Amino acid sequence: MRLDRFLSQQGLGTRKGVKKIINACRVKVNNKIVTDNTIYIYGDDIITVDDKQIENLPYITILLNKPEGYISSLIDETYPSILNLIPDRYKKRVKIVGRLDADTTGLILLTDNGVLNARLTNPNYHIQKRYKVVVNHILKPSLVDIFSSPIDIGRNEVVQPDKLEIVDEYTAYLTIHDGKYHEVKRLFGKFSYDVVSLERVNLATLSLGDLKRGEWRLIQGDEYISLLSSVHLKKEDTL
Ligand code: URA
Repeated sequence: MRLDRFLSQQGLGTRKGVKKIINACRVKVNNKIVTDNTIYIYGDDIITVDDKQIENLPYITILLNKPEGYISSLIDETYPSILNLIPDRYKKRVKIVGRLDADTTGLILLTDNGVLNARLTNPNYHIQKRYKVVVNHILKPSLVDIFSSPIDIGRNEVVQPDKLEIVDEYTAYLTIHDGKYHEVKRLFGKFSYDVVSLERVNLATLSLGDLKRGEWRLIQGDEYISLLSSVHLKKEDTL
């Protein structure tokens, strides 16, 4: 990201104002004074203004373990937004990547990297999402084969699940990539199962790990680079 845009985003003023700060030799990148406001900075550069370090996150990507009873959009009359679960300083910058139902828990991303967001939600990129599914009656082993072929889920929508792994009588992991509205519930509904609990455990290269419900963490370093590469992006592409 360009230095002037970055400093402006950090609340140091308009682009014009920030340019003045840079011209006044008050800004250092990796301990060297810079006077060129157009240089590009990267996530691992150390930026200081008047020798005070500025948190250098040109882009923010947050992984949240969504609890039940929160919605993954901005406003709803019944449920609070998942944005209430992240700090105010990030809340204004990020957008939610895709949607989970209010009663679905687990991995959801928020980012201000628009290209990353668009690609992660574009079905052409075949981003895999893995869900832990608990259903209301015994899972038939034949479902594994059935879910390996395209399935008509109604409303003229046919999807191709990636993999069904049955864990026990009522529990399975389902991996999908299409991202249709209520896709998992509609897939199981087609075979007369109700989904009684749904948790997203993986998205692209990311997993929930030991993050507790309602907790979040920043995606940085190698984890961020791997996420970018899953949608054919490099760190430099989106700056
Ligand atoms: N499929 C669903 O049915 N619900 C979700 O929240 C996500 C995928």
